[in-house]
Amino acid sequence: MTINQALKKSQEKLKENINNYQKEALLIASFVLNLCPEKIITQLDKKISLSQFKKIIKLSKKRSQNWPLAYLTGIKSFYNLDFMINKNTLIPRPESELIIDQITKNNFNASDQKKIIIDIGTGSGCLIISIASILKNKKNIFFYAIDVSKKTLKMAKKNAKKHKLRKNIKFLKGDLLKPIRKKLRNIKKENHIIIMANLPYLTKKEIEKEASIKKEPRRALYGGRDGLKYYKELWSQIKKIKNKNNNINFTVYQEINDWQKEDLEKMIIKKMKGFSLQNEIIKDLKNQQRLLISKIQ
Ligand SMILES: C[S@@+](CC[C@H](N)C(=O)[O-])C[C@H]1O[C@@H](n2cnc3c(N)ncnc32)[C@H](O)[C@@H]1O
Repeated sequence: MTINQALKKSQEKLKENINNYQKEALLIASFVLNLCPEKIITQLDKKISLSQFKKIIKLSKKRSQNWPLAYLTGIKSFYNLDFMINKNTLIPRPESELIIDQITKNNFNASDQKKIIIDIGTGSGCLIISIASILKNKKNIFFYAIDVSKKTLKMAKKNAKKHKLRKNIKFLKGDLLKPIRKKLRNIKKENHIIIMANLPYLTKKEIEKEASIKKEPRRALYGGRDGLKYYKELWSQIKKIKNKNNNINFTVYQEINDWQKEDLEKMIIKKMKGFSLQNEIIKDLKNQQRLLISKIQ
């Protein structure tokens, strides 16, 4: 068997369902043979073992059944770091990198005020691990990651270990801010809480539209009829905490779809009446309104 024969067979399997089938065949071969795609192209006549050939074909078959490539390789790159993923974790998306870009714009040296960064719905841990890896040497910053799924948290912890940040991040299981609300209520000095929230925000229709999305965990995707179910619950929790403890200020980074911006903003304004609130919207590279930043004091 040669690489070329494996590529041809792989393309045959992929052709029917996958638009970019030539590139994907190359990526699958590259993963199985542990060779970069450029090397594959220059070594088409290289012999491979029967088991390597079989693996390439097996993965190509799965890919043609709409399994996302990242689930087949078990790895996805996010903010220049590689994350292990499996079918229990959402595949990190490039648009979520906006959250990291925006948070790192803050000047974390400006004051000695304690800051707590909380990633709600951590999934693979890509957001909290990326931010902790950038800010780990700053003083007075504490990192937390919460998810409702035990299996997801297991993977996030593995990723933290892989990036040597396991001791820097506390992982908690539970519903949105509930696992940490007692701590937040009892904070005595003025404190700044930064929340990263890429909560499930898709509607049923949006999930149905894409075959590969359907292979990802529904709990990571479905946000109720208007996609805002979890953001509404989150703001109810924030309001309760703020009512009990006005020492803390929140900045909440919320990933959304373009069409949800107005509804989300209206909901926050209504819920947080009486508090000082500032909203800012950030667009992604496709010019879609993607990140709503809400500051509440
Ligand atoms: C859209 S995924 C985001 C994953 C990851 N943060 C990322 O950006 O790739 C949403 C995550 O929220 C978690 N989740 C869903 N409902 C939750 C809840 N009520 N409380 C905490 N986490 C929840 C899901 O298990 C899933 O991991």
